[in-house]
Amino acid sequence: MTGFDTLIRNGTVVTASDTFDADIGITDGKIQAIGRNLPAGKKIIDATGHLVIPGGVDGHCHLDQPTGDGSVCADDFYTGTVAAAYGGTTTVIPFACQFKGMPMQAAVDDYHRRAHGKAVIDYAFHLIVSDPTEALLKEDLPRLINEGYTSFKIYMTYDDMKLNDKQIVQLLALARTHGAMAMIHAENADLISWLTDTLVEQGKTEPRFHATARPMLVEREATHRAITIAELADVPILIVHVSGREAVEQIHWAQGRGMRIYAETCPQYVTLTQDDLARPGFEGAKCICSPPPRNKENQAVIWDGLASGLFHIFSSDHAPFRYKSETGKMLHGESTPFNWIPNGVPGIETRLPILFSEGVKKGRISLNRFVELVATNPAKMYGLYPRKGTLAIGSDADIVIFDPNAKRIIRSQDLHHNVDYTPYEGLEIEGWPLTVLSRGEVVIEKEKLLVAPGRGEFLVCNKPDMARPKVA
Ligand code: URP
Ligand code: ZN
Ligand code: ZN
Repeated sequence: MTGFDTLIRNGTVVTASDTFDADIGITDGKIQAIGRNLPAGKKIIDATGHLVIPGGVDGHCHLDQPTGDGSVCADDFYTGTVAAAYGGTTTVIPFACQFKGMPMQAAVDDYHRRAHGKAVIDYAFHLIVSDPTEALLKEDLPRLINEGYTSFKIYMTYDDMKLNDKQIVQLLALARTHGAMAMIHAENADLISWLTDTLVEQGKTEPRFHATARPMLVEREATHRAITIAELADVPILIVHVSGREAVEQIHWAQGRGMRIYAETCPQYVTLTQDDLARPGFEGAKCICSPPPRNKENQAVIWDGLASGLFHIFSSDHAPFRYKSETGKMLHGESTPFNWIPNGVPGIETRLPILFSEGVKKGRISLNRFVELVATNPAKMYGLYPRKGTLAIGSDADIVIFDPNAKRIIRSQDLHHNVDYTPYEGLEIEGWPLTVLSRGEVVIEKEKLLVAPGRGEFLVCNKPDMARPKVA
């Protein structure tokens, strides 16, 4: 066997199940061989002392997503995918978002236009369904699922997005029939609305009141309701961005009854707390996301779930809004009331380093579990496995050479997103990607981007096995 295009040698290969010393031979963008003492390639990458892991799959991020309130998603498919690649992610799955009155196909076409010619790594689309008309339920969505858009998000909150229980059960029944993965944002919209009105009437509009308006119980109730609807429809669902104990307890209960209820959490729920929303002045706006970060006790519960297997994926929920901007966090000036501040935090580049540093290095999760959470399970969840998310013969050579001992302090100025802050400013990290390959091509090396915009390919997703109902 001779003449690989690229040989990665002397690294420690880590997959979701195994850790072993081996070389990896790559030809035509695919992994051709994994073994000891493989013959040289035209290009040789020495991974001595480093980990060789599958490229991350970020199953939840927002790039160039249109909004309805005048805010602007700061990252497009270029800046967002560049930042992702620097952070060791080689596949992103952002959202083609339907607004009410809009055909789903129009949202998908528009999103392809936004992505075209920009991405530096591969990408697929989730759909967001906000207007489940008869045409959407009977024709458009089943067709789109069959065409490779095999996951969609349902909101139980946000006035312009939320669906009622009948609409949700209709969509879950459709997911069952057509083999799609339904992702659910679980917060009780009416209770949030009442709490928000009460706070605003009292003049309590600073960023910290965002957390008061969205307490854990609104997430707990909606999580339980989503589980109940999934039980009725008899279909697996994924509860996204789970923030703490009470939602975890609902998921644990459902999983204990044998239901396929999957769960996602994000860096903000293991690093930030509601105290961050009370940072001086307007600074708390930097950490506003929904559900909001909770407290240390809830962080510990999330860590337990990451270690135990209760959580299946760890996504960024990168929602990039600039801080000092009237299309960002300061949508209505420097004292924008909390209920008008765009929701979401940036984190596409820091996802792997944070989970590795806070999780693996601090002994909370194993190395294999780290790979499973950031790469393998998201690829399985969304029908991209084994092309993505693992290191196996025949898989795309999406590979990260990861330095487990690199020490960094997260600084916004060093990141590559188009946002003017990071909520993780000053966080000390141990472990950072060194070299990143996508389909065998070196994308990042020695801190440099080596590829041009537009090389990233759109991925048609298979119907995920994880979306299949249990056989009785
Ligand atoms: O606050 C958040 N999570 N913003 C992004 C949109 C969403 O709901 O995921
Ligand atoms: Zn959400
Ligand atoms: Zn999101």
